[in-house]
Amino acid sequence: MRNLNQDTITEAVLARFENTPDPRLKQIITSLVTHLHDFARDVKLTEEEWFYGIQYLTATGHKCTDVRQEFILLSDVLGLSMLTIAMNQDKPAGCTEPTVFGPFFLENAPHFELGADVSNGASGQKCLVRGQVKGLGGEPVKGAKLNVWQADDDGKYDVQYENLSQPQARGILNADDQGHFHFTTILAEAYPIPTDGPVGTLLNATKRHPWRPAHLHFMVEAPGYERLITHVFRDHDKYLDSDAVFGVRQSLVTDWVQQADGTYLMEYDFVLNPQR
Ligand code: BEZ
Ligand code: FE
Repeated sequence: MRNLNQDTITEAVLARFENTPDPRLKQIITSLVTHLHDFARDVKLTEEEWFYGIQYLTATGHKCTDVRQEFILLSDVLGLSMLTIAMNQDKPAGCTEPTVFGPFFLENAPHFELGADVSNGASGQKCLVRGQVKGLGGEPVKGAKLNVWQADDDGKYDVQYENLSQPQARGILNADDQGHFHFTTILAEAYPIPTDGPVGTLLNATKRHPWRPAHLHFMVEAPGYERLITHVFRDHDKYLDSDAVFGVRQSLVTDWVQQADGTYLMEYDFVLNPQR
């Protein structure tokens, strides 16, 4: 195969992958090459632009650490994370909808008793959270494990502070025998995703804002049910229709009601899909 040109190179590359034994890998690499070449032809990619792209992806890799995943952030702002969730987690009507995981989950969050204050000193207005975990048939999910995490009123997660000795505004709780849970935390506020890396450069160059509407993250797990990764959003947030990572679903938006004493109450029930 010699003298390949812009009209013949795609077929030549695809032929080189013809003997890939794993059929799924073959399907993915074939589609990737086809779309990548079509993209380059479509925009008439220059050599300078090709090299800028290489440098951009290199910088994205360099920005990654144990607690910072710039490639996931890039996937988030390109809508790829949410598209993948939407395609793979099409749960039956009635189930709580999933949304993006985000980069700020901590594997070993502290455990709390029901009713505890999970904020652990994080700054923000006091907020009581309560609800019930149920199965699709309406049955209470006894002892469901809830992993919760959120940013403080400065828009930062605990892992974004360098000198914090303990986790803040995150924790693990188990629902009671009837699936009920309640805990105290701080009021969720809108915050910007990190913009000090290549993702920030992209948002800036394309005049996009980095804000996420106020939300509280939940991961809900119980034997016999699919794991649910989601958020509950605060109604009336000004970024609900322009979330930087496209994660808002109307069914996850609820009113966080201010009480007479100035604190807030957020009530939300989760409905889990039985394991398929
Ligand atoms: C988050 O909600 O924690 C998040 C999600 C995607 C990108 C950045 C942050
Ligand atoms: Fe978040």
